[in-house]
Amino acid sequence: DTTPRMRTVMTALIQHVHDFAREVNLTTDEWLAGVSMLNWAGQMSNNKRNEGQLLCDVIGLESLVDDITYREASKADKPPTSSAILGPFWRADAPIRENGTTISFNTPKNAVIAYMHGQVTCAETGKPLANATVDVWQASTNGLYEQQDSDQIDCNLRGKFVTDAEGRYSFYCLRPTPYPIPFDGPAGKLLKLMDRHQYRPAHIHLIVEAEGYSSLTTQIFDKDSKYLEDDSVFAVKDGLTVEFKPRNGDSQAEWDLEYDVKLGKK
Ligand code: DHB
Ligand code: FE
Repeated sequence: DTTPRMRTVMTALIQHVHDFAREVNLTTDEWLAGVSMLNWAGQMSNNKRNEGQLLCDVIGLESLVDDITYREASKADKPPTSSAILGPFWRADAPIRENGTTISFNTPKNAVIAYMHGQVTCAETGKPLANATVDVWQASTNGLYEQQDSDQIDCNLRGKFVTDAEGRYSFYCLRPTPYPIPFDGPAGKLLKLMDRHQYRPAHIHLIVEAEGYSSLTTQIFDKDSKYLEDDSVFAVKDGLTVEFKPRNGDSQAEWDLEYDVKLGKK
């Protein structure tokens, strides 16, 4: 039953909102401006745009909740790979693709291709995890995810890969580029008000799942990217930056990214 917990959470929220109003001597106009902002976020949102989540993200709330969540997992003797926020662009219905194939079907002229591959293992024992699912998604070089962009086919730059007997996965993708979060709604307005930019460092999203293990939602960041120090949604963490290396002898990819994932037992 979630009711007692919900009561605790909502009681604390209401107390803190009252304290906030008292602290700043909130005026009627200011309170109404806040109401308009929430309504505006709601009106902008649909199945392709999640402005409520974006608003939470620019104030660092999703990132804080992720930190709180990971705090438990990281206490383990041999902790799993660090988690990171989900963000608003994951889709539940991405297709399963074959290892070694590409997720890029509308490759822009200015895109640079990378081959990403690695092994999924048990954090505790190091045992390879066969049949794990690696769900991946990324923005194109124009800064748009497939569902934001009518020039990309359905499920471009996303897909699920199932690890082989040695726990390995592999695919071709774009070397990611920095990406501006949507700036034309209340999240953008808030960023402007605070003199903050709307960019995220170059990243690839992952959800890795295996039977008997806790699901891992994370992002990896190109160590050479701009905005690692001032990500607009505060998702960058130690241990999540990766190095793209030149890939030799592969006409399909200029860069190689090896990335292993450790999952924690349930
Ligand atoms: C957010 C996350 C992303 O990964 C992204 O590409 C854009 C926005 C977010 O947390 O709001
Ligand atoms: Fe993203």
